[in-house]
Amino acid sequence: MEQTSLLIVGLGRGAAWGREIRKDPELRVAGLVDVDPGRLEAIGSELGVPEARRFRDYPTALREAEADVVVLAVPTPLHQEMILEGLRSNHHVICEKPLAMSLAEARELREAVKRFDHRFMVGEQYRFADGVENLKIAIGKELIGQLVYLSHEFFRGARVGMGRVGQPDHWHRTYREPSLHDMSVHHFDMWYYITGQRPVEIAVKPFDPAWNQSGRRFGYSVHATLENGAHVDYITARALARPETTWYGELWIVGDKGALYWDGDSLGVTRSEVVPTESYAQKLASEKLEFVSRGITNTNLPLRPLIHSLLTAIRESRPHPCDIDDNWVSFATAMAAVESAQTGHPAKVAVE
Ligand SMILES: NC(=O)c1ccc[n+]([C@@H]2O[C@H](COP(=O)([O-])OP(=O)(O)OC[C@H]3O[C@@H](n4cnc5c(N)ncnc54)[C@H](O)[C@@H]3O)[C@@H](O)[C@H]2O)c1
Repeated sequence: MEQTSLLIVGLGRGAAWGREIRKDPELRVAGLVDVDPGRLEAIGSELGVPEARRFRDYPTALREAEADVVVLAVPTPLHQEMILEGLRSNHHVICEKPLAMSLAEARELREAVKRFDHRFMVGEQYRFADGVENLKIAIGKELIGQLVYLSHEFFRGARVGMGRVGQPDHWHRTYREPSLHDMSVHHFDMWYYITGQRPVEIAVKPFDPAWNQSGRRFGYSVHATLENGAHVDYITARALARPETTWYGELWIVGDKGALYWDGDSLGVTRSEVVPTESYAQKLASEKLEFVSRGITNTNLPLRPLIHSLLTAIRESRPHPCDIDDNWVSFATAMAAVESAQTGHPAKVAVE
């Protein structure tokens, strides 16, 4: 069997890519790159990558590792330059989300990557989870009729400004609204992938308790309108004492003939519909839907299907998911959300 070899660059998030790639007989780690020798040593040893395949310098690794695909998991301010370097040296490139630091940078990239024959993919893995796929299929089969609204809740963590991203010199500080730019972009991609509808406008209200002096927002209350007129109500905040959701959040999608629910954890989703009765009290009938059941739950397990979707598309000479035009939608939604949070006014999602 021919293996595809991948060079992993940046060994924070990149370590998760390495662990998933190692489980797959069709994939091979061609090498690891990190400017931090401690991380290179620790992750290199954990993944069993020989020292000769551990690089401190990206250009050298591009020349010497003989990789087919580069996986970039470096700080977002480095994405643009390193994506183009990877493509220029004749590699396919998968880069972690978020695509870029600004719409202007994303526009430049959108033009630039089209000049290369090699593929560029944004590593937006959430859409490869079973639950997300089951929601998409249920909507495609029109099991809830006409879409009316989505309600999406995401709660993680107790306080803001904790952990390494809370450090004053961490590169995360260069985001204007880190949670929207870096985290909610996953959720925006879920909305788009599941419904097939682009968000057209978004209104964001940040909220902070008085004691939050961390420089990062405590939470955001978000309202978005999709192109078919359906609405999204979305809250993203620290959990404090309420239970955390998973990283996918908890989602209700309501149509005129029924509703879909995903807890963000199970493989399948639940569909419910109203049973007609004479009484005012609502009576519901529910069923579990599992169109796909591949065991892809947590947010690392989708990495392998994501890589394979790219490889299959290359083999079949067809477009791949999460190419730059596809990813533009969720990235532009995140940028509109940042703008709205900062101006206090609804913002239009840029189409190009
Ligand atoms: N998809 C997801 O679920 C997910 C989760 C976490 C992070 N991410 C994304 O992954 C990227 C990295 O985030 P992180 O949390 O791992 O950051 P991090 O700061 O923890 O790790 C970045 C790593 O890159 C290394 N690095 C910096 N400059 C480099 C260079 N020029 N060459 C090689 N290595 C270099 C650093 O030494 C560090 O080890 C970001 O874009 C982030 O948004 C995605």
